[in-house]
Amino acid sequence: MLTARKIKTLAYGACFLTVLYYFGVFTHLFESEFKHHFRYPYDGDIEELVQQLRSNATPKVPPINTYNFRFAKSSSNKCKNVENLRLVFLVKSAPEHFDRRLAIRSSWGFEHRFSDVEIRTVFLLGERSDATSQLKIRKEFESYKDIVQANFTDDYYNNTYKTMMGFTWAARFCPNARFYMFVDDDYYVSTKNLLRFIRNPTAYPNYLEPAKQRKLHQYDFDLDVNVRLYAGFVFVSAPHRHRTSKWYVSLSEYPYDMWPPYVTAGAYVVSREALLDMYYASFYTKHFKFDDIYVGLLAYKCKIEPYHCDQFYFNKLGYNFEDYKYLVATHGYGDPFELVKVWTQQRAKNSA
Ligand SMILES: *[C@@H]1O[C@H](CO)[C@@H](O)[C@H](O)[C@H]1NC(C)=O
Ligand SMILES: *[C@@H]1O[C@H](CO)[C@@H](O)[C@H](O)[C@H]1NC(C)=O
Repeated sequence: MLTARKIKTLAYGACFLTVLYYFGVFTHLFESEFKHHFRYPYDGDIEELVQQLRSNATPKVPPINTYNFRFAKSSSNKCKNVENLRLVFLVKSAPEHFDRRLAIRSSWGFEHRFSDVEIRTVFLLGERSDATSQLKIRKEFESYKDIVQANFTDDYYNNTYKTMMGFTWAARFCPNARFYMFVDDDYYVSTKNLLRFIRNPTAYPNYLEPAKQRKLHQYDFDLDVNVRLYAGFVFVSAPHRHRTSKWYVSLSEYPYDMWPPYVTAGAYVVSREALLDMYYASFYTKHFKFDDIYVGLLAYKCKIEPYHCDQFYFNKLGYNFEDYKYLVATHGYGDPFELVKVWTQQRAKNSA
């Protein structure tokens, strides 16, 4: 017979199980091991297919994924006839962030910052349904000619579309740059330090003792135009199975216990060779809703190992001149006044 006590125990048990379920404990039990079982459609070696697409040949296997963007604004002349184009900023921005874009154009995104280094900056935007903001963007585009916008709704869960629009744009309209920096519009970037970093990532920052530095200098990225660099703050982490998480993923979306190693999406730099390989790899990589994971998947399929540098901060590093001396990028600059203030100070000290 069920006594009150037994009922109570059962009820507690049920609650306990519900809580475990909610926190994804059971989901973890059904995950499979990334290390031994990882597969993600297209299931097969794609290197040859990528090379076939890159050389305009018909690939042996037809693509399984195609991002058919219709560019409403393409700023297609941005990189045209630019010789020795060193760096392109692809700034992931939201349509209504007019003031952030203005601040970026006049600070780290300024194209004429250095007389001897060619830099270009474009802003990646999705669409909004309201006519007022579309009109404002059109005016902004006419003034600055630096907006890239295609037909997808601007939304957090559409960030992969924004990123792949950037890859598509670069491959189609701007394949002549050495390096591409993808960065959010709420970042502070030191363009000067970024240029130093891409000159020789393994020797950056240069406060290492000279003996060690010399050893690292054996490999000079600058001389090797074929280098496949994909760099920033690298994460090796597990999927969130907690049901309330913004980053929750179900087993059917992704069944493994670990993500492929990836660079956090707020700021990362890719060389031309990496960008083109990864772009064409997207034709053989099923869409995924989180952009940093998707880019990580592309790199993994291309066998490009992400390169970690802790001078890319995915959270905000509190401001202080010394701490910002070698910093490449930091999150937390959604306030355009603060951004310009910090940038002006760092520039005066020759660190921006
Ligand atoms: C954008 O337009 C292209 C070409 O018209 C179309 O194939 C594609 O499905 C559209 N994309 C979205 C997300 O609506
Ligand atoms: C992503 O963009 C597509 C195409 O505009 C749209 O249909 C879809 O609703 C968007 N997704 C989200 C989550 O906003």
